[in-house]
Amino acid sequence: MKTTQRLLVVCLGNICRSPMAEGVFRNHIQQSGLRWSVDSAGTSAHHQGEPPDQRAQREMRRRGIDIRNQQSRPILAKDLDTFDVILAMDTMNLHDIQRLANGDISRLAKIHLVLDQGEVPDPYYGGSEGFAQVYDMLDGAARQWVERWKNDASGRQS
Ligand code: 4NP
Repeated sequence: MKTTQRLLVVCLGNICRSPMAEGVFRNHIQQSGLRWSVDSAGTSAHHQGEPPDQRAQREMRRRGIDIRNQQSRPILAKDLDTFDVILAMDTMNLHDIQRLANGDISRLAKIHLVLDQGEVPDPYYGGSEGFAQVYDMLDGAARQWVERWKNDASGRQS
């Protein structure tokens, strides 16, 4: 069993929710001692090459995490082979990623919603409070996922 796993977090534009998720998950993974890599992508290529939205950068900076060097990129079908876990922010993202899996069972098995219940709402058309809410939701979710992965890792002695 390999010890290094690869996580991909995905939203629509890869400028608001998933760049924040990339920073939040990387932070929790590092603190946990797991050696996972983290990347993010969008189901749309509309913002390709752009840094995270200023409001997302500001909220993350307020929480002590610097995401300014990230760049938006679209998810590609090959990401479903190279990544081990793929987490979607909402059901539209989930369905768009599932479509890329092309019916392949091992690809489909990697794809989940990031929250156990519900969705991370798109904060793009709202105010800064929406970004604070997204941070809190992602922070709670990342805590739970990392705990689960740590338990899995200790179970298989890796
Ligand atoms: P994200 O937010 O999916 O969290 O990055 C959005 C960013 C841009 C747009 C929609 C959502 N847009 O329509 O341009």
